[in-house]
Amino acid sequence: MSAETFEFEGKFKAEAERNLAKYPHERRQSAILALLFLAQEQRAAKAGAGKGGRWVDETAMRAIADMLGMPYIRVMEVATFFTQINLAPVGDHHIQLCGTTPCMLRGAESLRAAVEKHLGIHEGETTEDGRFTLSEVECLGACCNAPMVQINDDYYEDLTEESLLAIIDKLAKGEKPVPGSQIGRRCSEPEGGPHVLKDGPSPQGPADPKGGPHGNMPAGEPEKLY
Ligand code: FES
Repeated sequence: MSAETFEFEGKFKAEAERNLAKYPHERRQSAILALLFLAQEQRAAKAGAGKGGRWVDETAMRAIADMLGMPYIRVMEVATFFTQINLAPVGDHHIQLCGTTPCMLRGAESLRAAVEKHLGIHEGETTEDGRFTLSEVECLGACCNAPMVQINDDYYEDLTEESLLAIIDKLAKGEKPVPGSQIGRRCSEPEGGPHVLKDGPSPQGPADPKGGPHGNMPAGEPEKLY
């Protein structure tokens, strides 16, 4: 075991305690994903930009296991299952490109080639300045709006090479691209809008042109899951 220690601090400690409080003490293991996410966010915040801090090491996993009363290996099993938990340093902007069948059929391979050429890295690598990492992952559950990528906490969907590279360029400039469908579709409705059941109230509520990037979902930052 490493001689280093890990503990949650400041706002991350408060968030860890808030998540633990959601569950009865004997069920506190249910907070494991939230704590793993918080651990890598705390490391990133302490490391600073370009330092590859958004990841979880063995020391943090052991500390989380102790907090949750779990065997260390159980925490490792969860951390290694979810690609959102990084077990090695990654760039400030971790581009997780879905390469599973629906996204592949809709152009994921050309997206990967375009990003590799644009950033000068191959899949699995990080740019020299530590800003971007490109990883290929399995289905992220947004197949209806394929092809898509997850970059840190945000999904970008209905991508083309041009729209994805524009998103990357905005991130490189410190801007915040609008997440969600990049062709303006609401949620998972058909391209071009609904074709059936157009009369009467929509189960999703009325279309709101002033709504957020996901149509009827409210504009602004989504509530954090942790
Ligand atoms: S196949 Fe890409 S999100 Fe499901």
